[in-house]
Amino acid sequence: MKKSKIAGCLLLCVAATAYAETTTITVNTRNTSLIYKVDDAGKLRQIYFGPILDAESVENTQMTQVDAYPAFGTSYINEAALRVVHGDGNTSTELYFDGVEQNRLGDDMTETVITLKDGYFPFTVKLFFRAYETNDIIEQWSEITHAEKKPVTLYNFASSHLFFNEPSYYLTQFCGEWAMEMNMVETQLSRGVKNIESKLGVRSDQHAHPCFYLSLGGKAQERAGRVIGGTLAWPGSYRLSFEVDHRENLHIVSGINPYASHYILAPKEVFKTPALLYTYSDSGVGVISRRFHRWAQKYGIYRGDKTRTTLLNNWEATYFDFNEEVLSGIIKDAADMGFELFLLDDGWFGNKYPRNSDNAGLGDWDCNKKKLPHGLGYLVEEAKKNGIKFGIWLEPEMVNPKSELYEKHPDWVIGQPHRQLDLSRNQLILDLSNPKVQDFVFGVIDKILSENPDIAYIKWDCNRFVTNSGSYFLSPEKQSHLWIGYVRGLFSVLERVRTKYKDVSMMCCSGGGGRIDYATLPYFDEFWISDNTDALDRIFIQWGTTQFFPSMALASHVSVVPNHITGRTEPLKFRFDVAMSAKLGMDLQPKDMSPEDKTFSRNAIKDYYKIRPIVQFGDLYRLLSPYESRRTAMMYVAEDKSEAVLFAYLLKKTINGDTQPLILEGLEPARNYKVTELNKASQGYSWFTPLEGKVFSGDYLMKYGLRFTMYNEYESKVIYIESVK
Ligand code: GLA
Repeated sequence: MKKSKIAGCLLLCVAATAYAETTTITVNTRNTSLIYKVDDAGKLRQIYFGPILDAESVENTQMTQVDAYPAFGTSYINEAALRVVHGDGNTSTELYFDGVEQNRLGDDMTETVITLKDGYFPFTVKLFFRAYETNDIIEQWSEITHAEKKPVTLYNFASSHLFFNEPSYYLTQFCGEWAMEMNMVETQLSRGVKNIESKLGVRSDQHAHPCFYLSLGGKAQERAGRVIGGTLAWPGSYRLSFEVDHRENLHIVSGINPYASHYILAPKEVFKTPALLYTYSDSGVGVISRRFHRWAQKYGIYRGDKTRTTLLNNWEATYFDFNEEVLSGIIKDAADMGFELFLLDDGWFGNKYPRNSDNAGLGDWDCNKKKLPHGLGYLVEEAKKNGIKFGIWLEPEMVNPKSELYEKHPDWVIGQPHRQLDLSRNQLILDLSNPKVQDFVFGVIDKILSENPDIAYIKWDCNRFVTNSGSYFLSPEKQSHLWIGYVRGLFSVLERVRTKYKDVSMMCCSGGGGRIDYATLPYFDEFWISDNTDALDRIFIQWGTTQFFPSMALASHVSVVPNHITGRTEPLKFRFDVAMSAKLGMDLQPKDMSPEDKTFSRNAIKDYYKIRPIVQFGDLYRLLSPYESRRTAMMYVAEDKSEAVLFAYLLKKTINGDTQPLILEGLEPARNYKVTELNKASQGYSWFTPLEGKVFSGDYLMKYGLRFTMYNEYESKVIYIESVK
């Protein structure tokens, strides 16, 4: 066996000039290894991705013919990672290894940069890998640049290519629609290409999220099996392509969707692709979620170490129909029930074209004088007087044609000449590839926040996708840059907002869950995952979302019955118990509640504060899936395992009672834990009463489990589990 000159990512700071010595490159996390080798021809090959290998095993891995980053024209798979037309019209690219650098970027992270160069053209691709050791997550992206005389055109520009050679592959995707996002669907992959993708450009996750599980050799399970979990950090059109080739090998090519998006790259310009974040688990998907949650808290989400506030939102309470008096009443009731913030939703702006429905006013961000004669400041002050914070809804990327903004700047929208205005929700998208539009959008936020420094929270909405995909700003030959230019423009605005307004919390909303991804989250504290607030549907939507995104950032609101979207009626306790399993909020008119419901809500909110640190910062364990069982349950365990909270729901009535044991997880076997029911429907008898206050060992709870019967549809239990001496 040929002896490698270099093995292991722990060998740091290898100078680029030393590449000639290098034949093996290892990207290690605590439990996984990703290995590349350079073959005799100088090509970089993917050798292995799986459980961590020791140095000797790495040495003994064999050469493959798998291109690390397959380029069109010289690679033998169908889906190329890279397809370029060079300045002279040559359509092929042939990449050779040119060097590697490995640097430690802190206690827990190593960055590996592999440089590949074309054999003829001055054309370079750098593959970046950040290995987050404790979290077992790899973040991979690429950077493309060249020094050719003329611009080159990029047609495919993937972030990553991963290769597997297994007997079978099962793909779980997260798909849906407005008000029914993040459904989990698993399929066995057969020969050919299966794409998880979006071509929507903006609000691009509404139908499919850029997340996946790939289970090797059998279906994905919660606690067992070899699974890769991955997610692409990009809020625009994306494509995750899974190709089973003629030898039953699987290639995953991920990145920005190249569809209608070719990019003219000027000499010296660096084209940076978004990152694919991925992890390998040999104990099922549960651990994958926990890794992503911890990673998100540390690196992914804005201020992931800060407690998220509870809030009352007036959207479902009033829609567009409110005035100062109505809102002041809601603010008072919100404070009285124990909420920490009042969020004023859509409808507060526009004067020439008042925003009294979704057909006018969007873009005119001045306070509507008729509804709010004393301006926003008055309401901010009302909230302050009641001891709570104030938040506000904005949809700064969009415009109604019926607005002063559109009258002034019709060329600021995405659209094309000779075409009818194509409206969706009566609105158009502002062209964020245009720096003037970026300035405008930043200016909207800047003005509101600087005039009202006590505004503590923004709900940033985005309610439509791209059609008529033209830019009046971009030149005719660069029209296809719009998709990427839009996202870059959005990031540039968000960067400016965050640089100036560090303490303002922001919720990312996009007609519900149309924009939830790991590139946007660094700017946002939380996200609105669906306009559907029906608790039964929410169990599924939250089940799907929390596979990749942490509950601390997942806003979940109690709303009225019958539910405005589904028409379903569920008990208030059930609605609270579902919302309390994430970031609790409310979306209803408190004055319409009965005194009993108000008292129940007040107590439930108090109970939420007790468990909030566990829900927002604990580890999530999923016990019974709503996809498999009429009783569903999950729990959060504090990092030090001293406390936990269990949520159990019955989705369907069972005549003789559902007695499925709840086998807990994540506790310490030798510790004793007391179990107490929270958020009780009444102080009387409950099916949990025989267990109330009892102490059990972690061993008992994790093997024999908690056993109590549930009978009725929409019955629910919240159990607080506390370690005792
Ligand atoms: C979107 C959001 C809702 C609400 C409305 C307001 O649909 O998802 O929560 O803010 O906009 O128009």
